[in-house]
Amino acid sequence: MEKRRLGRTGLMVTPLGFGGSPIGFSLEPGADVSKVLNEFLDDGLNVIDTGECYMDSEDKIGAAVSHRRDDYVLLTKTGHAVGDFPSAWTREDDWNPQMMMEGIDRSLKRLKTDHVDLLQLHSCSLDLLKQGDVIEVLKRAQEQGKTRFIGHSGDREEAVWALESGVFDTLQTSVSIADQQAIELTLPLAVKNDIGVIVKRPIANVAWTGSDAPPSNYATEYWKRLKQLEFPFLADTSASAEIPLRFTLGLPGVSTAIVGTSKPGRWRQNSAYVANGPLPEEMVAGIRARWKEVAEPDWVGQG
Ligand SMILES: NC(=O)c1ccc[n+]([C@@H]2O[C@H](COP(=O)([O-])OP(=O)(O)OC[C@H]3O[C@@H](n4cnc5c(N)ncnc54)[C@H](OP(=O)(O)O)[C@@H]3O)[C@@H](O)[C@H]2O)c1
Repeated sequence: MEKRRLGRTGLMVTPLGFGGSPIGFSLEPGADVSKVLNEFLDDGLNVIDTGECYMDSEDKIGAAVSHRRDDYVLLTKTGHAVGDFPSAWTREDDWNPQMMMEGIDRSLKRLKTDHVDLLQLHSCSLDLLKQGDVIEVLKRAQEQGKTRFIGHSGDREEAVWALESGVFDTLQTSVSIADQQAIELTLPLAVKNDIGVIVKRPIANVAWTGSDAPPSNYATEYWKRLKQLEFPFLADTSASAEIPLRFTLGLPGVSTAIVGTSKPGRWRQNSAYVANGPLPEEMVAGIRARWKEVAEPDWVGQG
């Protein structure tokens, strides 16, 4: 199984990781998370990403795989919707240092572990980054052994600031055929500063699969962009995710792409795509050229 170095953390990670948001937000009734995650690890894949605000995603991961904690690199996030989400949460609690510290302890309890490998800020503003209290929370958690490394999850100018700050070991950021700003804005800087890059939303939420705009606002922006980009390989709404995934994972600086899924066997399909390696150079050039021709100024990195 291919492994890539996650920047200065030195951790060796599989290119395909597991995005833990759908198992919290959109799990189909009767789906067996334990089977999905254990088979994922049995096959040698080793990255699991989650976040305190992904409903009960952390609980499900803890229940399913904490007995084999050494088999995976565990990433979680703090700061967005901290608190006993959703019951006790209000927006004012976001980024409150005390609430964040309590949230980190709650995450560890839910994940049934005494430490995560990477603790990330869950997309905070540039002002908060510069002000610094939220970074101090991460550092304190690291000093207390609750996390091995610290990272930022975000896009645009916040991501640039994070990469230049010298504080973070990793950046989690959006990159896909429908979200290419990072390719010039942040990936080269990450390589230069040896910051590990974890790609979120790596297959653009498969937004091409709907003939109408998706009901969730979350994927609507990608749906609109893809309509304008008119990639020939997505002409059909049943087009596979292979080209989008291989495009993302072939970009210089990308260590792992955490594809979100709650479907049994989905990761195996994606793993087979990844095994086919990067796309041919001329295909990558075509996807980049089309973006440069069509992308509008407000097509910035999506959170
Ligand atoms: N602010 C942040 O820090 C932030 C924001 C967004 C995401 N994230 C992280 O990044 C992860 C990935 O992002 P995401 O889940 O939003 O987007 P994504 O990985 O681009 O897309 C996920 C969607 O793709 C579907 N899918 C996966 N493989 C497929 C395949 N081979 N064919 C067809 N459909 C496929 C999944 O559905 P099925 O369940 O049917 O497989 C799911 O609906 C999240 O899970 C989360 O861990 C972080």
